[in-house]
Order: sequence, then C-alpha cells, then structure tokens
Amino acid sequence: MTKKILLSGIQPSGKPHIGNYFGAMKQFVDLQDQYESYVFIADYHALHSLRNAKEMRENIIGVMLDYLAIGLDPEKVTIFKQSDVSEHTELCWIFDTITTMPYLMRAHAFKDAEAKNKEIDVGTFNYPVLMAADILLYSPDIVPVGQDQQQHVEIARDIALKFNNTYGDTFKIPEHKIIKNVAVVPGVDGRKMSKSYKNTIPLFADYEEIKKCVMSIVTDSSGELPINVYSIHKLFRDEKELEKIYEEKKGKYKELKELLLEDIEKFIAPLRERRKEFEKDKSKVLEILKKGAEKAKNISSKKMDLVRERIGVKLD
Ligand code: TYM
Repeated sequence: MTKKILLSGIQPSGKPHIGNYFGAMKQFVDLQDQYESYVFIADYHALHSLRNAKEMRENIIGVMLDYLAIGLDPEKVTIFKQSDVSEHTELCWIFDTITTMPYLMRAHAFKDAEAKNKEIDVGTFNYPVLMAADILLYSPDIVPVGQDQQQHVEIARDIALKFNNTYGDTFKIPEHKIIKNVAVVPGVDGRKMSKSYKNTIPLFADYEEIKKCVMSIVTDSSGELPINVYSIHKLFRDEKELEKIYEEKKGKYKELKELLLEDIEKFIAPLRERRKEFEKDKSKVLEILKKGAEKAKNISSKKMDLVRERIGVKLD
C-alpha cells in the first residue's frame, strides 16, 4: 500500500524555539515512518525578515542541524531547501495570476502588518501564495503546523480549488494537521512564543541561556498558580504529576521555576549533544541537502510539467 504524503517546513529566520518544536517539528519526526515525508527549509520566505547573507547561510545550516538533531532521518524523509527547487517560485507566479488582492488582504499576517502601519513589501503580501506553491507541488495529504499557519494552509486549499476549477483537476486538496494542546505554545511573557516577540526559549539553548529565559517568565503575583510557568512546564512533564507539584509548592514561584529549568535542561541536553555530533561533519549535511533537492526536484518538475500543459504554455 502506498503511504500518504506529508509536507511541511520552517523558515531559517533565526534559532528555532520550543514553540516551533512542539507545534510542528516534533510532528515531522513522529510521523516520518507513517508518511512519505517532505520537510524543507523555507529560505525564500525568510527573505522578508532576514537580509543578511552571512546570517542566512548560518541559519540554513543551523536548521539542517536542528532537523537532524531532533531525529529526522534523511533515509526516510526528503529534506531540502526551497531555493534549490525553482519550481516553487515558478508555480507561485502562476498562482499569482488567479489570486485576487482583496482575497490576500484578508490574511492575518498582512492585516497585522497593516495594523502596525508597517510599509509592506510585495513579498510579505504574497507570502501565502508562495506557501501554496510549496505545498501543492508535492500533493501532500497533511501539512503539520502550529495554529498560526492554519490560515495559510486554507489559502493553499482555496488556490488549489480555484486552479482545478479553472484548468481541470491538477492539485490534491491538503489538510492542515494541528495538535490541539500545543497549537499555540506560549512564550515567557504569556503571548504566543515567537521570534518577533523576543519571548522564546531556543530549542538548543545552553543551560545558562535556559536559566535566563525561565527566570524571565512573567508571573502574576495576584494568583497562586503562575500560569505562564505552568503552561510551559506542561510541555515537559505529565500534567497529573505537575498539578500535584504546583499544589504542594503554591506561591513558591522561584522553586517552581527552578524545577522547570531542570526539566527543560533534562530534555534539551541530549538534543544539544546530538547536534554537536552532526556539526562536526558539515559536508555530510550539505550532501543530505543536495540529495534532498534532487528528489524534491524530481517530484516537483513532473507536477510543473502538468501545470504547464494545463495552462497551455507547453507546446509539444
Ligand atoms: P515558521 O518558521 O514561523 O514556524 C515553523 C512552525 O512552527 C510553528 N510555530 C508554533 N507552533 C506552536 N506554538 C508556537 N508558539 C509556534 N510558533 C511557530 C508554526 O506554526 C510552523 O508550523 N510559513 C511557515 C513556513 C512555511 C511552510 C510552508 C510551512 C513556508 N512554506 C509550507 C508548511 C508548509 C512559517 O513561517 O513557519
């Protein structure tokens, strides 16, 4: 029986954090045996916030090391970067021609940027269309993501339907896969954990870094349960056990934070070690990316061929 298909990716816009991990990356690992998987690095997407070539290069390699350290197996998963597969940007253009501006103006990311009076570049406006191309080229059944990407997957579905209605059945309609209790992992200030809010706990932080993050978690002294500490803690320890501990240590915020620090360290330390091992052999990492790009290109070029035929630019 052929396996169902999974596709997802993350931007190399900085260091991945535990929100990225629990919301999305962990799912890639947990599902790699069950699905034919395509996991990529959305480097062209990251251009809207990162305009420094050295940092971009470092972050791309960084995300690759992160993927390997969390347990993605390149023998099972096609791992590649978006910029190596030009079909993504090519299909994006074709989708641009069937997507209206008023429709994209309803996207959350655009509305947020507009509300902040930011000068919005065309790439940011168009972000969901490139994402639709990323997804639809590989005909995935599921796209595992955190809550903040749900709308983007819905936009991909709409674009697929519009294309299919206009040119004939071409794209499979994908479903997002969001795990409820980690859909929005909170940051140290209680808002959604996000690089842009500077409220993250990096996934590969060292002990001192984790300590700094944990000690900065905002606690509300009016209540007995420090909800921001608890919400992060439940990612690392069974909730039943946790309820008991928080009851016993009511009001003792410092002790609870120290326990959280130890629990996070216990979880991250082995990942950090694995990452260091992979870091020793950069050429192997580049080789994995190269092979991944070849496999991704093989799938996506066939799909693009069909698209070109459907829209009438293929003449032979
Ligand atoms: P990015 O790089 O912002 O985030 C990567 C993944 O992490 C999830 N995530 C979270 N989940 C739970 N709680 C949080 N606080 C949290 N913060 C981030 C995101 O939902 C995401 O799943 N647009 C995408 C990258 C992308 C993509 C794609 C994803 C480009 N093309 C095609 C899937 C399919 C993004 O910016 O993710």
